Amino acid sequence: MPWVEKYRPKTLDDLVGNDDAVDRMRTMVRSGFMPNLIFSGPPGCGKTSAIGVLARELLGDKYKEAVLEMNASDERGIDVVRNKIKMFAQKKVTLAPGRTKLVILDEADSMTTAAQQAMRRTMEIYSATTRFALACNTSEKVIEPIQSRCAIVRFGKLTDAQVLKRLMTVVEAEKVTYVPKGLEAIVFTADGDMRQALNNLQSTALGFGMVNEENVFRVCDQPHPNIVRDAFSFILQGNVDDAYARLKSLHDQGYSVFDIIGTMYRVCKNFDDTAMPEFIKLELIRIIGFTHLRLSEGCATMIQIGGGVARMVELVSDAKKMGGYSAELGLDAL
Ligand SMILES: Nc1ncnc2c1ncn2[C@@H]1O[C@H](COP(=O)(O)OP(=O)(O)O)[C@@H](O)[C@H]1O
Ligand SMILES: [Mg+2]
Repeated sequence: MPWVEKYRPKTLDDLVGNDDAVDRMRTMVRSGFMPNLIFSGPPGCGKTSAIGVLARELLGDKYKEAVLEMNASDERGIDVVRNKIKMFAQKKVTLAPGRTKLVILDEADSMTTAAQQAMRRTMEIYSATTRFALACNTSEKVIEPIQSRCAIVRFGKLTDAQVLKRLMTVVEAEKVTYVPKGLEAIVFTADGDMRQALNNLQSTALGFGMVNEENVFRVCDQPHPNIVRDAFSFILQGNVDDAYARLKSLHDQGYSVFDIIGTMYRVCKNFDDTAMPEFIKLELIRIIGFTHLRLSEGCATMIQIGGGVARMVELVSDAKKMGGYSAELGLDAL
């Protein structure tokens, strides 16, 4: 059984992070009142799980009868709204006073506009007996009239500490053998996506029996951050050629420039502060941002990465020339 399912949060306490969203859900459970809801946020931060938990807390053993779960990715047409949702809304279910039936629409942003338009009427007509809970990556893809009928609960990426906290629960329950560096690598590659973290943990643990840095990077198809870290060390030494050669080697292995620039951002962000003063780090991240922009605008080749590296080296060498200010800005470390 996939660990993402086995360890899907079953209570509100199991959800890590997103404290504001969880607090709002607690209030709803306490009062027994739930408005129509839109949960929006990036993948793997607990939206689907949260809706499930909320439905179970509110409806208890009536869950089966009183909840219609639909994944809009596969059932998104107007017919579904006309038939399934409407029929469910008309169905009679005896519930505790104040409780309502619930339609769960996962990945609602992939519903067609026509289907959403049809749903808006249903939402209104049956509002006394049926509530809707939608999950989506961006709430803007849900049409305005539906947005205005819903309370929007925003989820954010989990922090590294939050991902690690949840991972530790699973690691202990599954008795995974690991070294701390291995878990660090999983947290790094997941980048705030708990689903990815759990999948990578499971693949590494089952595939190799041991979670260490090397095995994690064999499982996760991502540019190895150590190579990128080397590139940054060369940048800090003012060595354009070797820095570029490291990044080029990743491209030669088949990684796309977007994989590379993404990893560069995360490595730079987490780079050891004693070796890279904050002032430099921020400037380097700015350059990474502009390089990413240029890549996205269409010229997605290593030339842009090369240009970015050259700009970074120039910046570092200019900073070193700043003489008098260097101590204040922490440039002595360079
Ligand atoms: N905040 C969280 N706390 C604990 N586990 C989480 C959290 N977010 C995601 N997960 C884990 O990741 C898996 C995917 O979560 P899911 O709720 O389907 O994400 P989403 O719908 O936001 O993409 C879940 O099975 C769960 O194990
Ligand atoms: Mg989901």
